[in-house]
Amino acid sequence: MKITYHGHSCFSVETGGSRLIIDPFLTSNPLANLRASEVKCDYVLLSHGHEDHTGDALDIARANQATIIANYEIAEYFGAKGAKTHGMNPGGAFKFPFGRVKLTLAHHTSSLNAGLDPIYMGVPCGILIESDGKRLYHAGDTALFLDMQLIGKGGLDLALLPIGDNFTMGPEDAVDALDLLKPKLAAPMHYNTWPPIAQDPEAFAAAAAKRGHRVQALRPGDTLAL
Ligand code: NI
Ligand code: MN
Repeated sequence: MKITYHGHSCFSVETGGSRLIIDPFLTSNPLANLRASEVKCDYVLLSHGHEDHTGDALDIARANQATIIANYEIAEYFGAKGAKTHGMNPGGAFKFPFGRVKLTLAHHTSSLNAGLDPIYMGVPCGILIESDGKRLYHAGDTALFLDMQLIGKGGLDLALLPIGDNFTMGPEDAVDALDLLKPKLAAPMHYNTWPPIAQDPEAFAAAAAKRGHRVQALRPGDTLAL
């Protein structure tokens, strides 16, 4: 399993013979290291409806004939716009050709066009991927919650956690999340995209290390091989 960071909460994953992209937000992302038109993928996985997670999903899905995997409402929405989709909901898992995907709880909101004519986009989710004998957890946007200990059950090779604060948990709660999830490795996301979510990822890594957790902060373009 090969994971590459693209800034904010966007990661591409090569695993099980497939190319995945999670929460593609590239066009309006000041930290993005690639253009949406350059993405080559088979699946687009979305944690929730907000534009900073779904921004380029439709264009990428259409251009690649890729399948969007997301909660039921998001899948129906993008399906109506011509994308191939696979709708799920929290607690449900499905075996795709590349591996098993389970949507998990996340405590957040989920809508599109929040300011004007908001569209209900189902509940926010985390994404658990089991593939190539590895378990990857992308927390989506979420607050800290005690049920994270259930997500960590069975072991996690990598946890991707928001640390930006303001819209999601901040660094202190993210360290508490590591206590519940107990991943072998974690990487922060959803920070430094804009001033309200400015954070020091190295300070987070140091605070996590004091509690016995291994954290690696990735720059856009950095790749991890699990
Ligand atoms: Ni959000
Ligand atoms: Mn967000």
